[in-house]
Amino acid sequence: MSELVASTSETSAPARFASHTSTAGSEEDVSNPQHKLAPFNPTDISAQQAGVKLLGLKSEDVLYDLGCGDGRFLFTAFLSNPTMKALVGVEYDRVYYERCLATAKSIPPCKDKISFIHGDVLEVDLSEATCIFVYLVPEGLKQIEGKLHEFLGRGGTRIVSYMFSVPNLNPVEVVSTKGACKVQLYDSTSLPNKSS
Ligand SMILES: C[S@@+](CC[C@H](N)C(=O)[O-])C[C@H]1O[C@@H](n2cnc3c(N)ncnc32)[C@H](O)[C@@H]1O
Repeated sequence: MSELVASTSETSAPARFASHTSTAGSEEDVSNPQHKLAPFNPTDISAQQAGVKLLGLKSEDVLYDLGCGDGRFLFTAFLSNPTMKALVGVEYDRVYYERCLATAKSIPPCKDKISFIHGDVLEVDLSEATCIFVYLVPEGLKQIEGKLHEFLGRGGTRIVSYMFSVPNLNPVEVVSTKGACKVQLYDSTSLPNKSS
């Protein structure tokens, strides 16, 4: 499985957030098709802001977005607290990965803070992460359930999931967002053997 880690300074393409959705991967996808955890569908701004608020991001945080699309959640998170230690997006579709790089180039202050991995979420090492954002379909969340439980079990502090629930975790907070959607916060007390 190839995995490319890029700093945000690697691209010279113009910056622009995606304004359309697509369910098709590009020819240069790096993932196993069995690991398609969700089609691209961006989180709207009100849900991004609700997710950022729930995460309560601090200077020591390293935030991962697993399946980051065009990176918009990470850019919103960074702009909410530019003192964060690091933000990392994981995206297997080259088209969206390259949009992430292009947008990052247009926000110079994020150059040393935000990076993107062109790779498969299932293959990514989360040992540096302190908190995670996910927007994946239920079948996708099922595929990474073990990875997310392991993350919380080894000291990862919080996960925010937009729209769908992480299987077998009890949310500590649920916030309703536009269009009857929701963002849910999980922490180590969300694990099955830790809940009250
Ligand atoms: C619903 S979109 C969410 C995008 C972004 N997180 C947001 O909230 O705006 C899910 C994204 O996950 C990506 N994805 C799906 N399976 C993946 C995998 N196995 N590894 C990396 N990215 C994946 C898709 O290409 C898509 O961009």
